[in-house]
Amino acid sequence: MAKGIRTVSTVVTSCDTPAPGVRRLILADPDGWDLPPFRPGAHIDLHLAKGLVRTYSLCNEPSDNARYVVAVKLETESRGGSRFVHERLAVGTPVGVSLPRGRIEASHVGRNVFLAGGIGVTPFLSVIRDMEAAGRTNYELHWTSRGEPPLAEAIRPAIEAGRIRVYDTRREPRPDIAAILHEGDNNLYAFCCGPNAMLDAFDAATASWPEARKHIERFTAPKIVANSDFAPYELVLAASKLSITVTPELGLLGALEALDADVPVSCAGGICGACRTRWIEGSPVHRDRVLTPAERASEVIVCVAECASSRLVLDL
Ligand code: FES
Repeated sequence: MAKGIRTVSTVVTSCDTPAPGVRRLILADPDGWDLPPFRPGAHIDLHLAKGLVRTYSLCNEPSDNARYVVAVKLETESRGGSRFVHERLAVGTPVGVSLPRGRIEASHVGRNVFLAGGIGVTPFLSVIRDMEAAGRTNYELHWTSRGEPPLAEAIRPAIEAGRIRVYDTRREPRPDIAAILHEGDNNLYAFCCGPNAMLDAFDAATASWPEARKHIERFTAPKIVANSDFAPYELVLAASKLSITVTPELGLLGALEALDADVPVSCAGGICGACRTRWIEGSPVHRDRVLTPAERASEVIVCVAECASSRLVLDL
């Protein structure tokens, strides 16, 4: 599946363990060139091994183009990615990475509330470092952790300035997300990354909010129920001229794998954006949580998409 994927060559220049079970990597260009720029809250895919692609948030500030910093928690139910990072990557290991994508867009004028659980702070680190560097302090981070939170030193000045509230669940209850968010007004923008229970509470508290004022970063893809009802359709790859019939049993991703198509896959659940692909013809049925309506006019997240027409042509 990984044949010919365009990646940026990097090498691990440093790795450490800033918290139990968390491995931090610094990646840089092997010859010291600047890396492609990124925006606050962006993430990259690490191409760890053939067929093993994982997406992680960039933790350093976007003005720092000399390196990419990622922090990876070893998951007890690892599908292979975090274990590979912890056990197989060392200083000097070459790692292909995708171009950075995504962003978290904090409001310049409103009040920004970031809610994080443990290692779920990673997407907010680059945002907070960027805001602090620009003298923007119109934010607060409510950070739930069992014990000392991981990576706290990355935003220590903001903690000391009182803009970050840490809730140590060994000593105090978890924060009441609904109460935090309802203290605000229409000028409040909320962002959440953490375990599913936290995301569910956030979803409930912001159910009536306009989409533009809330944002969720997910680590794990929600279960996508396969649709076994759609009619088979023809999948055509425009560049290679390959085609295949997509049946409900095969699915679009299975069809692309059968054609050995050039599409990286990370979460396989429509949340990371690694597999976004331009489509040329047909009626894709979008089931992802990545693309905006405008982007869907020309792109599709193939790991979860289906097709409502008899033919789907992808720009591959
Ligand atoms: S692989 Fe993550 S969105 Fe498709």
